[in-house]
Amino acid sequence: MATIATVILVLGFILTPLHAQTPPPNNVPISWVQNATSKGAVCLDGTPSAYYFQQGQGKGANKWLIFLQGGGWCVNQTDCLSRATYGGSSGSTKNLRQSMEFGDFLSNNSTYNPDFYNWNRIYVPYCDGSSFTGDVEAPDNLTNVTYRGARIFKATMDDLLSRGMNFAQNALLTGSSAGGLATMIHCDRFRELLPLFARVKCLPFAAYFVHEKNLPGSRYFELAFDGLINLHGSAGMLPPLCTSIMSKPSLCLFPQYLLQYVTTPVFIAMSSFDQIQIKWNLFREDEVCLVGQNCTNDQKEAIQELRYDLLDALPKALPSLRGIWIMSCIAHEFPYHSTLKVIGEKTFADIFSDWYFDYTYLQIIDANTDPRICSTYGIIPKKL
Ligand SMILES: *[C@@H]1O[C@H](CO)[C@@H](O)[C@H](O)[C@H]1NC(C)=O
Ligand SMILES: *[C@@H]1O[C@H](CO)[C@@H](O)[C@H](O)[C@H]1NC(C)=O
Ligand SMILES: *[C@@H]1O[C@H](CO)[C@@H](O)[C@H](O)[C@H]1NC(C)=O
Ligand SMILES: *[C@@H]1O[C@H](CO)[C@@H](O)[C@H](O)[C@H]1NC(C)=O
Ligand SMILES: *[C@@H]1O[C@H](CO)[C@@H](O)[C@H](O)[C@H]1NC(C)=O
Ligand SMILES: *[C@@H]1O[C@H](CO)[C@@H](O)[C@H](O)[C@H]1NC(C)=O
Repeated sequence: MATIATVILVLGFILTPLHAQTPPPNNVPISWVQNATSKGAVCLDGTPSAYYFQQGQGKGANKWLIFLQGGGWCVNQTDCLSRATYGGSSGSTKNLRQSMEFGDFLSNNSTYNPDFYNWNRIYVPYCDGSSFTGDVEAPDNLTNVTYRGARIFKATMDDLLSRGMNFAQNALLTGSSAGGLATMIHCDRFRELLPLFARVKCLPFAAYFVHEKNLPGSRYFELAFDGLINLHGSAGMLPPLCTSIMSKPSLCLFPQYLLQYVTTPVFIAMSSFDQIQIKWNLFREDEVCLVGQNCTNDQKEAIQELRYDLLDALPKALPSLRGIWIMSCIAHEFPYHSTLKVIGEKTFADIFSDWYFDYTYLQIIDANTDPRICSTYGIIPKKL
């Protein structure tokens, strides 16, 4: 086992950012999940699930990149009813556009997106409020809301298998925030659907939410995760070994416990000053002052403590099994193709590509221990 000593601390380089050029439009039409309604693969409001799919070409024909959208969770009846009713596409597919612009690492431009441009690329909208884990047969008897995220995941995978994913040579399951959590939860399940010899890995962005025991303390996360278990019936999607050992199943939604039971390679990409992590593990004001750069010393200290707790909670497994890239830029979600170079001349895209294709295995932590503003690198603080 590698120890924390394998973690490479890298000096932050002050480099002139190259502005990524915006490629021309790459509009991809919507695909409706086959038999979604009869399979129960429906959103909170009962509408059938959907995804956006662009077929792989040439050498990418048997390579698959699947991105799971994020967007928090709904964790009680009121919360989920309001998502289903007023949440736009976060609780329904009825407002989805007929086509979607594929950018960043879903782009089909080979110069801009050399690793994935010709793969089968899929964007899965998030309309279940449970990180694709809900699995309750009957609609809510008070609100008529359906809790079926896990069935959406399964039916979507069935569709993709029937489109040729059963022949995958390379595959990557990825997602951001609540979609990043779904990526970790479903990583082994995804792996099992694909051929034994395939290269299958998972890339959760902005989703390593720490179970915080010292600071104000995971109030929101524990509440939210309890809601997933109790309302959405999510426990069935978690590793049984974990849920049988932990004092309550919802703790297995924290990546630091969950990933101990995941055997597929996972690359964790995150900011150590993640705004959601700070807002929900500390206080709302801590996130506000961080972005406004006017925190008091006490606030700065709490934010630093949370950063160390995150670093502490990171997996200790071999870098080939657990890649790590932790930047110090203030952000929540961030683009794959940022021009930020955290190590030498390498961007996130370069480093991840090395890890995915087995050229190098790295666990990288930005040595800037202070929060950075990285807008010039395309990493923009989220408006919360
Ligand atoms: C692809 O992206 C590159 C770099 O962003 C850009 O210069 C080029 O014009 C794009 N090519 C096409 C065909 O869109
Ligand atoms: C990308 O896809 C669009 C269609 O969505 C197409 O018009 C364009 O030519 C493609 N670009 C490349 C570089 O293949
Ligand atoms: C959808 O249902 C039809 C009719 O029951 C069936 O023939 C078809 O195989 C199903 N497709 C999928 C992908 O489940
Ligand atoms: C409950 O939702 C289903 C769709 O999921 C719909 O067909 C039905 O009419 C709804 N019932 C009520 C009472 O709103
Ligand atoms: C439902 O959850 C939201 C947070 O997502 C919370 O603000 C609200 O108070 C909760 N409502 C009930 C009735 O528990
Ligand atoms: C609604 O469902 C809850 C939980 O499943 C159950 O305890 C309750 O009895 C049900 N209420 C009605 C009116 O069916």
